[in-house]
Amino acid sequence: MQASVSQYGEVGDILILPLFKGVEKAPNNALSGLARTQRSLVNDAIASDSFTGKAGKSLTVWTPGCQVALVGMGDASSFSDKSARDTGAKVLASLSKDGGTAITARFTTGWKTDQMVLFAEGMMLRDYTFDKYQQKDDDEDHGDWTLNCQASPRHITNLTSGVAKSSAISEGVHLARDLGNEPANYLYPMEYADRAQAWAKGKSNVKLEVYDYERLQKEGMGGLINVGKGSVQKPCMVLFTLNPDADSGKRVPCIVGKGITFDTGGISLKPGAGMDEMKYDMHGAATVQGLMYALHATGHKGRVNAIACLAENMPSADAYRPGDVIPTYSGKTIEVLNTDAEGRNVLADGLWKAGEFDPEYIIDLATLTGACVVALGHEASGLWSNDDDLRARIHKAGNCEDEIAWPMPLLPAFEKEMTGSKIADVQNLGTGRWGGANTAAAFLKQFVPDRPNGDDSQGSGKTETSDKSGQNSNESSKGEQIPWAHLDIAGTAWGAKSNATVAHGATGIHVRTLHRLISQQ
Ligand code: BES
Ligand code: MN
Ligand code: ZN
Repeated sequence: MQASVSQYGEVGDILILPLFKGVEKAPNNALSGLARTQRSLVNDAIASDSFTGKAGKSLTVWTPGCQVALVGMGDASSFSDKSARDTGAKVLASLSKDGGTAITARFTTGWKTDQMVLFAEGMMLRDYTFDKYQQKDDDEDHGDWTLNCQASPRHITNLTSGVAKSSAISEGVHLARDLGNEPANYLYPMEYADRAQAWAKGKSNVKLEVYDYERLQKEGMGGLINVGKGSVQKPCMVLFTLNPDADSGKRVPCIVGKGITFDTGGISLKPGAGMDEMKYDMHGAATVQGLMYALHATGHKGRVNAIACLAENMPSADAYRPGDVIPTYSGKTIEVLNTDAEGRNVLADGLWKAGEFDPEYIIDLATLTGACVVALGHEASGLWSNDDDLRARIHKAGNCEDEIAWPMPLLPAFEKEMTGSKIADVQNLGTGRWGGANTAAAFLKQFVPDRPNGDDSQGSGKTETSDKSGQNSNESSKGEQIPWAHLDIAGTAWGAKSNATVAHGATGIHVRTLHRLISQQ
């Protein structure tokens, strides 16, 4: 969707008038550019009982040459950011392209600039389809929407920059959705890497490195290798750096994504029902690529690192087995009790690699556990952290973007479960089935590196050696662990009926949250 901003003027094929409750006649400027007959039709509709401005109620008025959608926004005084964004999304979803694709959204009485941006953002986010594998009739192809946002002169500067920024971020969200929605026969590990490379090509401030199967073996990344070796499509690791020359000597964020391009469960094979959805099991990595796109597209100046861990989890003669003990990049060994708990195995290598960047903090995103969906449904991602401040910042950024990240416990007892193996350092399954999302998080924590000894003075400015969260069971730990947070997006990466910004399929979850967190808006 091409989006622009201007003062009140010409109208397109569709005029959207979002109006607050109690409106009895068209606000000043609402009808500029319309002919006398058009104005009178719209004025009559607004004055009638058929339109009151109540939230969730709208009325479309046909006039010659322009459809006018009156959209009820409810009370101006109690109007929330969420309703601005969601209403924009719902309005876009309700439109038909039959009468033309040029939309004018006109903001008048009661509108704040930020909420205009959010309304437009909702429209842009919702303007997404994944129909590349469907045949199209020629007469069905109406082309793309264009959106012209109109407001009074005092809003124009901030509205213009706000809409441009939201538009760039929405493209990142859509990229993440594209990667998520792509079927696993098209999107396998090296295809993800190729797409990242195609994006990075020619961008002087993007550095991209791909560790192919051979390199993974040289590096000793046994987590990724073992999960991925059962597939013909071999695993890889993709390392992104945005603005590699910026912020020298400063600690910067590192984001890590689980990228299982298909999760059959492996030898611990999943049941058939719903297994098709496991093409989304790379959404953590999809978010990573969408985020890097969005940061670049919005002109983010700081250095940011990201790592995607890609593998296809397949059963085969070459697959890893339950009972195997596998090495990892960290040097720690994992006893594999279930090959379907594969996400944590690949993240073990990703998290340890992240430590090499000496990051300000590490955040991983993963469609990690069905247990997280049991706990939180599709309404929130689970959020675990070894750092209270980081947890609070992510929670807050998520709330601002209506991508809720709900704090979950990282308890010593869960860590004890995961480190109780008789023959390896860590086991990849808890001792029972309860608290499965928490035991998974506790497993990941075993692979978060400590700050290098005697070097905790830089960047984050933290000097205390005790864990602020009080949740660190690493009593004997030499240094402080790097601040780290884990987002389990198993319930939010797809399937949320309540998410107004997406019709179906991959959501692009947390591209916006992490963009906000990193760009510190
Ligand atoms: N990718 C799945 C988790 C998942 C399941 C995400 C359903 C979304 C919907 C993950 O790799 C997995 O299989 N987890 C197992 C872990 C278990 C074996 C400890 C699970 O949740 O059952
Ligand atoms: Mn699995
Ligand atoms: Zn998985």
